Amino acid sequence: RPRVLSGIQPTADSFHLGNYLGAVRQWVALQEDHDAFYFVPDLHAITVDHDPKTLAARTRNAVAQLIALGLDPERCTIFVQSHLPQHSELAWILQCYTGFGEASRMTQFKDKSARQGADRASVGLFTYPDLMAADILLYQAHRVPVGEDQRQHLELTRNLAQRFNQRFGQTFRVPEPFIPPGAAKIQDLQDPTVKMSKSASAPGGIVELLEDPKRIAKKFRSAVTDNEREIRYDPEHKPGVANLLTIYSALSDRKITELEADYEGKGYGDLKKDLADVVVAFVEPLRERVQGLMDDPAELDRVLARGATRAGEVAGETLALVHEKIGFLPKS
Ligand code: TYM
Repeated sequence: RPRVLSGIQPTADSFHLGNYLGAVRQWVALQEDHDAFYFVPDLHAITVDHDPKTLAARTRNAVAQLIALGLDPERCTIFVQSHLPQHSELAWILQCYTGFGEASRMTQFKDKSARQGADRASVGLFTYPDLMAADILLYQAHRVPVGEDQRQHLELTRNLAQRFNQRFGQTFRVPEPFIPPGAAKIQDLQDPTVKMSKSASAPGGIVELLEDPKRIAKKFRSAVTDNEREIRYDPEHKPGVANLLTIYSALSDRKITELEADYEGKGYGDLKKDLADVVVAFVEPLRERVQGLMDDPAELDRVLARGATRAGEVAGETLALVHEKIGFLPKS
């Protein structure tokens, strides 16, 4: 079975709709016919401001959300990044084969460091993509299901794998990005020209899966659209409407053209109200499911312990091969 790997950061109390439609939804489908590894990158989470008191809780909560959204610990391997020292070890090695200029060109680093201010941005934020490359290459993943915003990091990962293989002989599988057409970039409801983002969106622009469904409905009702009346998919000229249609289509499994036909002659208000209903129906059962899982932290920890054991087998094998290729003296 081909192998798949992906991760989602524990940097908020809830995943948002973009995380789900751009990434986690694909993870759930892929666990059926892939050897699937999904993890919570807590090492990545400390590259920006964080509160130690909430990090552990958010990490457990992320695992609970993944299971509530459909990951099955019997069908896939779920783990926490910091439980596997191999990630940090391979990240260091990859840093030594990454150009300074190459790392400086990562747009996510440029955005995040600009937001924090050059003096406050950490070196960890700068080398973040090497840690992500390590996450992927350790597992010899064929596919990496992510949203559009991770494409450049995937490209770097592929370059690093190819470079390493060329220099030291076949070591890493070169992974393919698995980016869903359509929902790979869910936009902010208040500013549909930018992506929905945990770190950058205002509260009105982001839909958190675990927030009060009434508030979610309200956010859709006040989503920014345009001054026309026509419900038509045109991301360039009508980004707000296009975003609503994208979300609607993904959650209802209906084609955008069908929705356009359905809403011919109807107003934005109808579209927003119906979409709010669809989203609320989806999120409604989630909170209870997550709460149920959080009520039994020992069980979650058992899932993670099993996950770490399985992940460690694969990661350990790759890291041993890397050590050998590089010429590190074996430990006797
Ligand atoms: P993170 O935690 O920011 O986001 C998790 C996933 O959600 C996707 N995503 C979106 N998709 C569509 N529309 C949006 N508005 C949207 N916002 C976020 C992201 O593309 C991602 O797939 N660096 C990664 C975490 C990571 C990782 C890895 C991923 C660390 N190591 C190894 C894959 C493989 C990140 O920060 O994702």
